[in-house]
Amino acid sequence: MKRYVYRLGEEELWELLAHEGVPLQVIGKGSCGVEFATYEPLKGLRPLRIEEVREDWEEWRSAFGPVEAGDIVILPPWKKVVFIKPGMAFGTGLHPTTRLCLSALQEFLKEGDSVLDVGTGSGILAIASKVLGAGRVVGIDISEEAVRECRENARLNGVDVECVLGRPEDVEGTFDLVVANLEIGVFRKDLYAILPLSKGKFIFSGLYGKGDLEEFTRLLLRRGLKPSRIFEDEGWFCVGVGDAGDKEGG
Ligand SMILES: C[S@@+](CC[C@H](N)C(=O)[O-])C[C@H]1O[C@@H](n2cnc3c(N)ncnc32)[C@H](O)[C@@H]1O
Repeated sequence: MKRYVYRLGEEELWELLAHEGVPLQVIGKGSCGVEFATYEPLKGLRPLRIEEVREDWEEWRSAFGPVEAGDIVILPPWKKVVFIKPGMAFGTGLHPTTRLCLSALQEFLKEGDSVLDVGTGSGILAIASKVLGAGRVVGIDISEEAVRECRENARLNGVDVECVLGRPEDVEGTFDLVVANLEIGVFRKDLYAILPLSKGKFIFSGLYGKGDLEEFTRLLLRRGLKPSRIFEDEGWFCVGVGDAGDKEGG
């Protein structure tokens, strides 16, 4: 978001306010007049400067968290909602590895991207991808229970996710983005079957501690790939590979 910084004499400013009633923020007063900012450009006035105020905006937005009253949850319209019915499959959103993937998806996923979720569990990441605007989304898992819950949760959210029983080597074709919240032991066996499934963007999670992270990075380097982004929470690491893109620019 941009803010437009102007300077006017005090009287001119009060005149402007009286006629236009624009919301503004006074930055400071001095002998040269009043410096103030608006969030819309003012007609007929040239700004001293235009500033990016992304952080203030994010801070402002983050103040409107969920409000709960009994079974009612009130959310502002920019929040994206995923419903997960508690079950046997992994993926309620409580575990840091899942939350790291959810953050990474918001950076790496572009509108319309096809997504493969390896080890989909409850389907949480596949469903979140759809909610974030993905095109085709496939979630695979080696557990029949997970596939059943993935389908149930996709229905609950009213999104079209293909929940399939299988391993990476069973998957045909390629996807814009592959997300895999697994663990180092599984990556040791299956990483090289996962890599050909993406056109270039990956999110890998489930790495605990620096030891896992270093071993995983070595596995990537052997195939000529490098992390482009590393996320951390409570000692868990999540690795992004490829171009996170510029979400602001669309
Ligand atoms: C840590 S859970 C992740 C669940 C969910 N994606 C999340 O982020 O919360 C890992 C899931 O991967 C599945 N899994 C383990 N090895 C797999 C493999 N080789 N291929 C596909 N799925 C696998 C497990 O059954 C489990 O459901």
